[in-house]
Amino acid sequence: MNAKRHDHEAKDLAAARRKVRKEGFGSASRHILLCYDRGTAKCASRNQMRESWQFLKKRLKELKLDKRGGIFRSKSYCLDICVGGPIAVVMPDNCWYGHCTPDVLEAIIQDHLIGGEPVEKYLLSRKPSCEQ
Ligand code: FES
Repeated sequence: MNAKRHDHEAKDLAAARRKVRKEGFGSASRHILLCYDRGTAKCASRNQMRESWQFLKKRLKELKLDKRGGIFRSKSYCLDICVGGPIAVVMPDNCWYGHCTPDVLEAIIQDHLIGGEPVEKYLLSRKPSCEQ
């Protein structure tokens, strides 16, 4: 690697680290990724994906859980399940959920993201880290 490229990478990484600190990403206790692959739209309709994403964003903000509240949320491209969605995954617990409508997301927020207990009825996987 040449010196100029090395300097460029070092500056980029420093800027990224500042952004992580500023946004509080490093302090997140959980991260929920929701399929928002509206181009593919196989696990749910585009409207369902949009409705779920808008709800998740609004609700985490209302509850003051987003960012510095310790819960991060991200739109995801296709999560390769492509049926029974919208699909979501909660990390680091590695709990995969199906049928993530606003009502189900509310249960996930209350029981899992806040309470730490996965919502059994909508779980798709029971990895050891997700078992109660
Ligand atoms: S389109 Fe949502 S998981 Fe594939």
